[in-house]
Amino acid sequence: MFESLKTLAEKTRARSILSLFDDDTERAAQYSTTLGDLLFDYSKTNLDVEQRAALIELARGREVEARRDAMFSGAEINDTEGRAVLHTALRNLDGGPVEVDGVDVMPGVRDTLARMRDFARALREGAFAGEGGAITDVINIGIGGSDLGPAMAVRALAPYHDGPRVHFVSNVDGADIAEVLPQCDPKTTLVIVASKTFTTIETMTNARTARAWMSEVVSDPAAQFAALSSAGDKTSAFGIAPERVFGFEDWVGGRYSMWGPIGLSLMIAIGPEAFDAFLRGGQAMDRHFRAAPLEENMPVLLALVGLWHHQVLGYPTRAVLPYDNRLGRLPAYLQQLEMESNGKRVSMDGADLDYASGPVVWGEPGTNGQHAFYQLIHQGTGVVPCEFLLAAQGHEPELRHQHDLLVANCLAQSEALMRGRDLDTAREMMAAKGLEGAELERQARHRVFPGNRPSTTLIYPKLTPEILGQIIALYEHRVFVEGVILGINSFDQWGVELGKELATALGPVVTGEAPADGKDGSTRGLVSYLLRHRGG
Ligand code: F6P
Repeated sequence: MFESLKTLAEKTRARSILSLFDDDTERAAQYSTTLGDLLFDYSKTNLDVEQRAALIELARGREVEARRDAMFSGAEINDTEGRAVLHTALRNLDGGPVEVDGVDVMPGVRDTLARMRDFARALREGAFAGEGGAITDVINIGIGGSDLGPAMAVRALAPYHDGPRVHFVSNVDGADIAEVLPQCDPKTTLVIVASKTFTTIETMTNARTARAWMSEVVSDPAAQFAALSSAGDKTSAFGIAPERVFGFEDWVGGRYSMWGPIGLSLMIAIGPEAFDAFLRGGQAMDRHFRAAPLEENMPVLLALVGLWHHQVLGYPTRAVLPYDNRLGRLPAYLQQLEMESNGKRVSMDGADLDYASGPVVWGEPGTNGQHAFYQLIHQGTGVVPCEFLLAAQGHEPELRHQHDLLVANCLAQSEALMRGRDLDTAREMMAAKGLEGAELERQARHRVFPGNRPSTTLIYPKLTPEILGQIIALYEHRVFVEGVILGINSFDQWGVELGKELATALGPVVTGEAPADGKDGSTRGLVSYLLRHRGG
């Protein structure tokens, strides 16, 4: 599918991105698109008019618009699980009806949102309290999509956090919960068990640990538990009263679920009004995605740039680099969103893909990353396309000079990646230091930056709840568009099953209750080591 694009990309290899700016003084505007104050600049990529048109043609040919409309209309597009994909309904605040199998889901969505708001308000105002008084701490126990979204957003929106403290426990490693519990008073703590299926071993194990911890001092621990799940029968079996169960339907995928009940901890932290603003941001991106022509459509363009870099040019990874410290968990969030969605090996019809599916996604906030892995980004032998995110303003007006430094660093990095430093310049630098001959040449070569390395920049005025909503919905739709073009199902995750099954089977083996017979030599050797060293 990418062969003609690969041919078109040949001229890219010998062309400098910088020269594209010389050829077109309007390039920055021509290769940017906006939604309100959110600006996506992809001009520092090695794309020209012809290549961009070919990518847009690919999107059109792969029927991105029809698939998008099918998703928003509630069609069963997740067909390996027989489900619609309607996380967008959760932020359809003032939109029309959305039907699944002929039934409008919006009354249910509005009803659950209203219950969440009532509960969050009651808790924040002290009307809902623990045995020891008003709730001071909330512990969200969940993993993957039931953790990463709210954990990322609570940190991102810390300046708006005026509710009780919120903690996140995800890992089955007891170190995680053991670190959180001592920070909380069980008599004034609410435990939220967040699990779409209510079967995930990590979450259920941590939930039982939290319940045991609370039972030591609280007479009715269940009264200080809430559940976020689509498995109502299982939440009741766990003993959580229906009034504190916030349900959602199977058409909300785990990694797309922070807009609904899974976002309860965020709502408690920032309040229902700010949470609404987050939803409104997501809804604004939905409207843009549905209405903007492909040529100006931010999620479509972000996706096409991603495909250009990975499937066409063959760059194996992409880095997400927020110059916004509070977006520190965004790379981890996007790892799940992108890699669980588009890390697939067969197309919708089950045939092997004969092209690459999704890339490895990774990153860290700037400027920290600069002092860690940017060396490789600038001078390593491979190319890592970089996606910068940058706020024009911080939340610390008194530290404006620090924000200015942050901004300067972000712009400097994308410029350095593109511009590089050639050998002649490096030689001049070494000559100015008094070197000559072979030593000058040797030292100069270490100081060459090849440059011509692509990046994009997503820039916004300030990280508000509304802007965060826009950013997250942008990435969701980017994943969708890439998935449609790749012809894969972005909404299942069968690849996580085998490890879960084997872990269940290994449970009694690692305790010595069952033999390791039938296991490979490595696993048997590791089990034997563990049994010798596991302690009492
Ligand atoms: O194992 C992967 C996964 O199914 C994710 O897709 C999901 O977000 C996570 O586990 C947690 O699942 P649950 O919310 O059902 O506990």
